[in-house]
Amino acid sequence: MRVVLLGGAGYIGSAASHRLVSLGHHVTVVDGLIYNRGDHPGRLLPSAATFVPGDLRDPELLAGVCDGADAVVHLGGIVGEPACRLDEELAVELNYAAPMIAAEAAAGASVGQYVFFSSCSVYGQHEGTVDEYTEPNPLGIYARTKVLAERRLPDALAEVAALTSLRLATVHGPSPRQRLDSVVNSMASRAVATGRIPLNGGAQRRPLVHVGDVVRVLAAVLDKDLTGAWNVGSDQENHTIAEIAETVAAIVPGSKIQRGPERDEADARDYRVSFTRLQQYLPGLCPTTLEDGVQEIVDLLVTRQIADPEETQYDNHRGLAAAFTAGKVRSVRTPECRRYLAEYTAAWGQP
Ligand SMILES: NC(=O)c1ccc[n+]([C@@H]2O[C@H](COP(=O)([O-])OP(=O)(O)OC[C@H]3O[C@@H](n4cnc5c(N)ncnc54)[C@H](O)[C@@H]3O)[C@@H](O)[C@H]2O)c1
Repeated sequence: MRVVLLGGAGYIGSAASHRLVSLGHHVTVVDGLIYNRGDHPGRLLPSAATFVPGDLRDPELLAGVCDGADAVVHLGGIVGEPACRLDEELAVELNYAAPMIAAEAAAGASVGQYVFFSSCSVYGQHEGTVDEYTEPNPLGIYARTKVLAERRLPDALAEVAALTSLRLATVHGPSPRQRLDSVVNSMASRAVATGRIPLNGGAQRRPLVHVGDVVRVLAAVLDKDLTGAWNVGSDQENHTIAEIAETVAAIVPGSKIQRGPERDEADARDYRVSFTRLQQYLPGLCPTTLEDGVQEIVDLLVTRQIADPEETQYDNHRGLAAAFTAGKVRSVRTPECRRYLAEYTAAWGQP
């Protein structure tokens, strides 16, 4: 299969590129390398993958890479609310306009399947257990861009390409393009580096999934042509933030939980997610536990494969701020971007 990974040099995409190449797929990665030093992905990607540098908001570039593809996978964007809040207009361009532009290109090239990387963040805050039929309750701009894209992508795909939306739990574990800024990786790396595990609040529930399991699910949905919305994770891996901290403390000798404010004002997400649908159709693809992921991150630091976890390259929030300073990424306000910005504003208000 000819698969195009948009944003494919990132944390999940780089891991996916290796897996898909090993399964015999022809992989093309398009990425602007926002968080990388230099302009080449180097060892992030397998040598058999074709790398195309560029901006995912560029319709001509997208039309070119979609030509002849069987599937397009959209992984690009700014991940998480804090990073999106750095420049909300840019967030709408990258998280909503870019996937819509790619969908138009995919439809124009008669691509069969379009896989959109969404997030369980769309559920926001819910008392009970949420599943794919639960009405989304997005709490901020990141989640709102994901909800709107899921809703509008079918129009842009014009019934040419089938849409698969993967709503990922919070991802952890090692990847060629490592991130240490999401909750598990951050707590594990800080525990090793400083002996302390910062914990704000703790009662909030958060589903987790290992990056290797995400990649297995992606390969399977491509293989079986599965469409529609899928929560990606496993029922067993619904944890509270406090449980994550306690697990890290138990694995890293001598580390201690350092309690901050009882409520995490920056992140009110709190939900328990059902992964029954995925388990029914693709059983056993997400077996990796929180403990496994923590141990793998700890090993990366102990063996000094990661020497300094505080480096900007491991943190998307600081990495994006550095990319602004370097002039690597900015809001471009092209006619397409303005059109999608107007749609976002009509749906959710001014970003
Ligand atoms: N990591 C998680 O915990 C998580 C959880 C839920 C959903 N997701 C979703 O999965 C996807 C991938 O996440 P990730 O953790 O791999 O993020 P990442 O930041 O590591 O990767 C995103 C990649 O996209 C590229 N990119 C972004 N906008 C671009 C543009 N306009 N032009 C060219 N390149 C561009 C970046 O350079 C980067 O390499 C995202 O859509 C994210 O919202 C991730």
